[in-house]
Amino acid sequence: MAQTIYPGLAGINIATSQIALIDGIKGELLYRGYDIRELADRVGFEEVTYLLWNDDLPNRTRLDAFSDQLSGLFALPDPVYNLLHSLPEDTQPIHAIRTAISALAAFDENPDDVSTENIHRIGTSLLAKFPTITASFERIRKGMDPVAPDPDLPVAANFLYMLTGEMPNAAATRTMDVALVLHAEHGSNASTFTARTVASSLTDVYSAITSAVASLKGPLHGGANAAVMRTLEEIGSVEGVERYVLDALAQPHGRVMGFGHRVYRVVDPRAIILKEVARHLAEESGDSKWFEMSLEMERVMDREMERQGKQIKPNVDFFSASVYRMLGFPTDTYTPLFAVARISGWMAHLFEQYADNHLMRPRLVYEGPRGRVFKPIDQR
Ligand code: COA
Repeated sequence: MAQTIYPGLAGINIATSQIALIDGIKGELLYRGYDIRELADRVGFEEVTYLLWNDDLPNRTRLDAFSDQLSGLFALPDPVYNLLHSLPEDTQPIHAIRTAISALAAFDENPDDVSTENIHRIGTSLLAKFPTITASFERIRKGMDPVAPDPDLPVAANFLYMLTGEMPNAAATRTMDVALVLHAEHGSNASTFTARTVASSLTDVYSAITSAVASLKGPLHGGANAAVMRTLEEIGSVEGVERYVLDALAQPHGRVMGFGHRVYRVVDPRAIILKEVARHLAEESGDSKWFEMSLEMERVMDREMERQGKQIKPNVDFFSASVYRMLGFPTDTYTPLFAVARISGWMAHLFEQYADNHLMRPRLVYEGPRGRVFKPIDQR
């Protein structure tokens, strides 16, 4: 009897969740009931993480306590700095981060205990350490010493400080915070599902998060922001955009990176916010090339997708590429930036997963041969 196949598990519900609602038709994203548009405007990364990890937004006392807890955990064990130093300088930052996260398990006295209290302890430590790993490796690969984290700074400012060694200005810090809030959580995306799947064997948080980073890296997921930038660099000018898009779409299964989404049939609400951030940065900096190319690409894609009757719109990675470029980040750090934010959502989902665990074990429909006659090796 024919069995139903769900390629990419599209449309399959694996659990109930209290964390995020994505309405792909209305173009709405809620974190625990709060609209992302309001959160992006009004809260910082620590506050949104507290929200994702708890039932509601923190009051001042709770936020201060959470922020203090984080700042005490920013620094890495010395051997992890040494590990980052030992990697070849042409190591892709996302490989370095995945390696460092995995290594942190070895320096944790209690990595395998998946009790609620212990996974919160590890999650808090990882949230604090992702920016330190990312910023430290960025400096190490450029032949510079890492900058020690400043426990008095919030996560976004501290991250920029550890990258440059200089106190970031308020505008750059705010832009970083908005990007972190927007990338913090997005339901059962590939990396979050990976984290949940790995955790579902009741293995440890470090293993689940290492796997999540590995999944995020792919160009169909968190690697798309870097792919968008590489595309813009390859095109080089506003005039070249139309030709590029038409050529890409003429290929069998041709894709333009930064467009399309499994859930959204309208523009991703995060892309709408990031578009305005990019517009603002382009006006402020006078470096409008990447933003103008992005606008042109959006225009041509809109026209072509409408012609083809497809609802393929910009996603979060499309405008984040030019935002990160205008903030001065190298292209291969874009996906690590995504990870610095998404550890927040990954952990929120691991808390749910461990609290009500079912081993993830889908099935495959076997279509291979049966009843074959075995031949010993010297008769094959
Ligand atoms: N450019 C052009 N056409 C696209 C497209 C894109 N970026 N994304 C989807 N399509 C079209 C294609 O016609 C595709 O049919 P195909 O089989 O002929 O290629 C059709 O839409 C359905 O796409 P499909 O890949 O089956 O949908 P999905 O839900 O599996 O894909 C993505 C979602 C994100 C993987 C896909 O849109 C994509 O590859 N986007 C580019 C990478 C990206 O930006 N990823 C970040 C996501 S936040």
